Amino acid sequence: MTSKDKVLTLLEQHKGSFISGEVIAQQLDITRAAVWRSIQDLRSSGHVIEASTKVGYKLQEESDVLSVQGITAALASKDKVNLVYHETIDSTNKEAKRLALEGAPHATVVVAGCQTEGRGRNGKIFYSPQASGLYLSMLMRPNMGTSMALRITAAAAVAVCRAIEDVSEKQAGIKWVNDIYCNNKKVCGILTEGISGFESGNIESVIVGIGINHQLPEQGFPPELKHIAGALFEGAVLPQATRNRLAAAVIKHLLWVVDNLDSPTIMAEYQQRSVVIGKKITVLQGRENYNATAVAIASDGALIVRLEDGKEQQLRSGEISLRPASGQSW
Ligand code: BTN
Repeated sequence: MTSKDKVLTLLEQHKGSFISGEVIAQQLDITRAAVWRSIQDLRSSGHVIEASTKVGYKLQEESDVLSVQGITAALASKDKVNLVYHETIDSTNKEAKRLALEGAPHATVVVAGCQTEGRGRNGKIFYSPQASGLYLSMLMRPNMGTSMALRITAAAAVAVCRAIEDVSEKQAGIKWVNDIYCNNKKVCGILTEGISGFESGNIESVIVGIGINHQLPEQGFPPELKHIAGALFEGAVLPQATRNRLAAAVIKHLLWVVDNLDSPTIMAEYQQRSVVIGKKITVLQGRENYNATAVAIASDGALIVRLEDGKEQQLRSGEISLRPASGQSW
């Protein structure tokens, strides 16, 4: 670890309070001049650090540069993960897959500040600009059959809702299958991918990729997303909700749901958080497109819909959009 990284670790551990240059130098066994150089380096990377000749250095509460150090400082010591950070990457899901093939352990988490090839479900692109989003993938090697692995998708949606509500004052709901909505806007998408063993055919690893619009992108959302997408924060970010703290909250809840996949409370919460039940929807399945009403979510996560002829159907794949009275669908 470089001096810069070590200084950042200490600053993140004392975020919001001063720590003297002398204490930092002693603890890291470096000179005060080296501490100062690291502080300057960190500032040029965007960290907001106050310096005072009397009391030392303080990483400001609102400082929000994503880093392994920042996420680790916000994680409880029981939440053990193998954390990897990239400022820019093609896709955190792709990177997690590459790491999985190299033998990375369960609970490897790839976080990025920006993705050049962010991927959504059904071959879509996931808009992943710099600075405003959190892009995170967790590699899991759960010891389970396919049916259990399928529950991870619903469990991940529940975990993200809990994390959002832990750090913000927002209420989070789930639009089937696993888009997260706050104030009627999509703030998060989740892409779950499985890697199956060539010989066994069993799911050996699962990658849960989560993209959260933390703030509004500087350039705004592209026109095709404007009526659907929103951000957790459209103004000032709460100090407890920096991207580092949000990432730590997501990781904490993901670890819990994966360890408790057979808990009935997870599916009950998934059902209860649904924003589609009772709503008029359009079902998009392959090239087919038809109107229905969302009736309920079954215990395996399938969406039960009533067709216009009164017949009921269970959806296990595909996509839906809501049909509000105003005509705009989301
Ligand atoms: C969707 O809304 O269709 C799912 C979007 C999933 C986006 C996340 S961002 C982190 C991870 N890496 C990706 O390339 N995709 C997922």
